[in-house]
Amino acid sequence: MEMLSKILVIHGPNLHLLGKREPEIYGNFTLQQIDEELKLKASQKTITIETLQSNSEGEIVDKITNTTYDLLIINPAAYTHTSVAIRDALLGINRPTIEVHLSNIYKREEFRKKSLISDVVLGIVAGFGKESYFLAFDAAISFLKDKSLETK
Ligand code: DQA
Repeated sequence: MEMLSKILVIHGPNLHLLGKREPEIYGNFTLQQIDEELKLKASQKTITIETLQSNSEGEIVDKITNTTYDLLIINPAAYTHTSVAIRDALLGINRPTIEVHLSNIYKREEFRKKSLISDVVLGIVAGFGKESYFLAFDAAISFLKDKSLETK
C-alpha cells in the first residue's frame, strides 16, 4: 500500500496580491488559481497538500517548524533576501525543501540576486511564472517516490 505524503506550500509576503501586483513581472493569475491547481495535481496522487500565504515572518517560521509535513515548497518572496529567521527555521527541521520563485531572481535587481535559503534547500525553481510551482510539485513527487522506494 502506498503511503500518503503531505506537502506544505508556503507563499510569503505580498503574494496574495498576485494578479494585481506588477503583472508584467508576476503574471495575471491569482494565488488562488495556483493553489487550486496544486490541490488538483495532489488529488491525482497519494498526496495531501496544505497551503499558507502569510505576510508575517513569525507566522512563516511557526509553520515551518511545526513539522506536520513530509516536504516543504516555499516561496519566501521578499523574505528570501532578508530572513535569517526563515533560514534558521529550515536548518532547524529535517525536511526536504524546494525554493520557488515566479520570476528569475538572478535576472533582476542586485538585491534580489542573494537568497538566504538557496544553500540549505534541496533545489530551486525560478523564472517560470506559476509553472515554477508546478515544476517544484513534480520534483517533490519524484523525490518522495524515490525516498519511499529507498525505505522498502
Ligand atoms: C519572488 C521574488 C522576490 O524577489 C520578490 O520579493 C517577491 C516574489 C518571486 O516569486 O519571483 O515577492 O519571490
